[in-house]
Amino acid sequence: MRIYIEKDYDAMSRRAATVIAGEILHNPACVLGLATGSTPEGAYKYLVDWHKQGLLSFKDVLSVNLDEYVGLAPSHDQSYRYFMQSNLFDHVDIVPENTRVPDGLTKAPAAFCADYDAYIRSLGYVDMQLLGIGRNGHIGFNEPGDCFVKETHVVDLAESTIDANARFFASRDDVPKQAISMGMGAIMGAKKILLAASGEEKADAILGAVTGTISPRCPGSILQLHPNVVVIVDEAAGSKLRAAGVSVCG
Ligand code: PGA
Repeated sequence: MRIYIEKDYDAMSRRAATVIAGEILHNPACVLGLATGSTPEGAYKYLVDWHKQGLLSFKDVLSVNLDEYVGLAPSHDQSYRYFMQSNLFDHVDIVPENTRVPDGLTKAPAAFCADYDAYIRSLGYVDMQLLGIGRNGHIGFNEPGDCFVKETHVVDLAESTIDANARFFASRDDVPKQAISMGMGAIMGAKKILLAASGEEKADAILGAVTGTISPRCPGSILQLHPNVVVIVDEAAGSKLRAAGVSVCG
């Protein structure tokens, strides 16, 4: 793993955006695995800015998102499709048909999940997978459990995830209890993985992902088995790495 500790959220976002932009410039028809949440918002702003300045084009990029809440329509302002449209897709030249986000309204989840994996396999997996991490160590919505799940699947969200995401909804009761998430097969199949995190509340999860026992109890720890991972965190999220003396690039 190559680890960068940046001074704050903005510097983390800019560094993450340069890695994504670098991927697109190197391979304009790349397949990006994209994430939602507070973590990537800043990076997406940089990418939109660079696109508006004429530095970056998404016209041949394909994207596949990690997850979506079960029961939320694309028009719901907390759905991850809505997030992607409003934070990135609506502001760049990506072809709408080239963007995939799991369908939270599917009536046939098992078939949908199998098709999602088949599509990712048909692309030869993603070139670069962007990941945030939950306070409990989840990646995508792969929550802590007894085993790593390989396939895209329907997940019961952990209570701690519902608590963490309640800030986006009018009340905790409005947070969906399930999501569709890419499994570890699609995530680990990515040629490159970019894990980003900010804030003190992510420091334990980052320490667990980078140096902890590899275990489904901390899903992010599986990334230690991937040959090409870049970790970009701010000082607060990286504080326990620093305390543990983990060597970092910057
Ligand atoms: P956040 O979520 O970026 O909103 O902190 C990350 C995650 O839960 O994976």
